[in-house]
Amino acid sequence: MTEIIFAGSECQALAKEVADEMEVTLGNSTIKNFPDGEMYVRIESDVKGKKCAVVQSTSRPHNSNLVELLIMLDTLKELGAREVTAVVPYFGYGRQDKSFNLGEAVTARTAARHIQLNADRFLTINLHKKSILEFFKIPAEAIDASSVLGEYFKTHNLEKPVVIGPDKGATELAGSVAKVIGCEFDYLEKERIGPANVRMKPKKLDIGEKDVILIDDIIDSGNTVLETVKMLRAQNANSILIGCVHPVLTGNIVTRLFATGATDIVATNTIQSQISYITVSSLIVEALKSK
Ligand code: R5P
Repeated sequence: MTEIIFAGSECQALAKEVADEMEVTLGNSTIKNFPDGEMYVRIESDVKGKKCAVVQSTSRPHNSNLVELLIMLDTLKELGAREVTAVVPYFGYGRQDKSFNLGEAVTARTAARHIQLNADRFLTINLHKKSILEFFKIPAEAIDASSVLGEYFKTHNLEKPVVIGPDKGATELAGSVAKVIGCEFDYLEKERIGPANVRMKPKKLDIGEKDVILIDDIIDSGNTVLETVKMLRAQNANSILIGCVHPVLTGNIVTRLFATGATDIVATNTIQSQISYITVSSLIVEALKSK
């Protein structure tokens, strides 16, 4: 079993939770910058012959968080760690998973290739596309956070809950969250209402007077959920609660969503943010304990 957990600078609190729940040591390290901006990393705990894990999301600032992860993995191996697991709760660059135009970098693959240079196992949470796991030649797993999202919304004791995904791609996640809550789910579909007009509406359910739980994997610019909130309001939803796995949160989208009529906005702590109320620590612990 994993004997020592190291925190990347993006996941310091989460790594501590994981270490505490596993009753293993939180590794000591120093991560800082040289005056010219280059990164300095020192692993201070003894790792020789030990099974280690590094918890680090490659969220904003993506490049330095990714480089920090790569340096930590390389250093642990150099110091003689027996086995190293890269736990990357939010896998940045995951949305560039194929080449749309000739010559375009498939950056998800670039990141995967570099992580596996020194990691023996890769763990992440809700990848944008599951197919990204195929870029890894080491054991790689994407943990599903729908259980912790569902449990959170269950505590609200909503009268008429219904889970909605903003598009067809979010159906699987919406369905899993709904299963935990024990309610129906649906996704929004475009309906043509004239030669130049489309309207978004739930494919099969009437959401009038319902408490809608809007679920997506990522909130970045927030435009996807913002437009959805407007439509749900127009269709007389009673309340609109928003949940996502990865709060990328560009700009002041949290304020804009509240101002548009969202009742609650919550996310997991794969990325630290002002709405990261739900912890994924137990999911990571379970996965780490499984091997
Ligand atoms: C799209 O495929 C994803 O599931 C999210 O809906 C998307 O990444 C959200 O992006 P934004 O918040 O910028 O609309």
